[in-house]
Amino acid sequence: MKTDLTVNGRTRTIEADPRTTLLDALRIHLGLPGTKKGCDHGQCGACTVIVEGRRINSCLSLACMHEGDDVVTIEGLGTPGALSDLQKAFVEHDGFQCGFCTPGQICSATAMLAEFEAGWPSHVTGDVAADPEFSVEEIAERMSGNLCRCSAHPNIVDAILDAAGRARS
Ligand code: FES
Ligand code: FES
Repeated sequence: MKTDLTVNGRTRTIEADPRTTLLDALRIHLGLPGTKKGCDHGQCGACTVIVEGRRINSCLSLACMHEGDDVVTIEGLGTPGALSDLQKAFVEHDGFQCGFCTPGQICSATAMLAEFEAGWPSHVTGDVAADPEFSVEEIAERMSGNLCRCSAHPNIVDAILDAAGRARS
């Protein structure tokens, strides 16, 4: 089955079995190995990409469901010579060890900061009618779908705070 997507700003067409996940389409059909397959069951967040501006687990979504969609992967956020603010902050704050979870963490954090700026509440937001307060607790909650088996979570929080121009509170 043919599916047209925009991936990292470039129009791409894949020809794949309709059961092909977006994750496999990105990695296997389009040769973009930055997005990682961890659990393949929606539990670890390693496969997080940004579709139509929102973060999703690409292992839980079929590629054919995304006809015409705009998809951004870690390869679309920055390059080695022009890292995004979050990518730079992950390097500066030692936000990774093996690096396997890192693309998903950075894609998730990128979309999460936009959700935060848009005033979306989370499970730990006290007053859902007010702008959410940018705190470690909010970041931990909003990033709870991205697991790091190397336990880099404290440094990941520091990197997100830095990229957002906030101090730890
Ligand atoms: S590989 Fe998709 S959530 Fe783990
Ligand atoms: S850096 Fe190794 S799993 Fe997160």
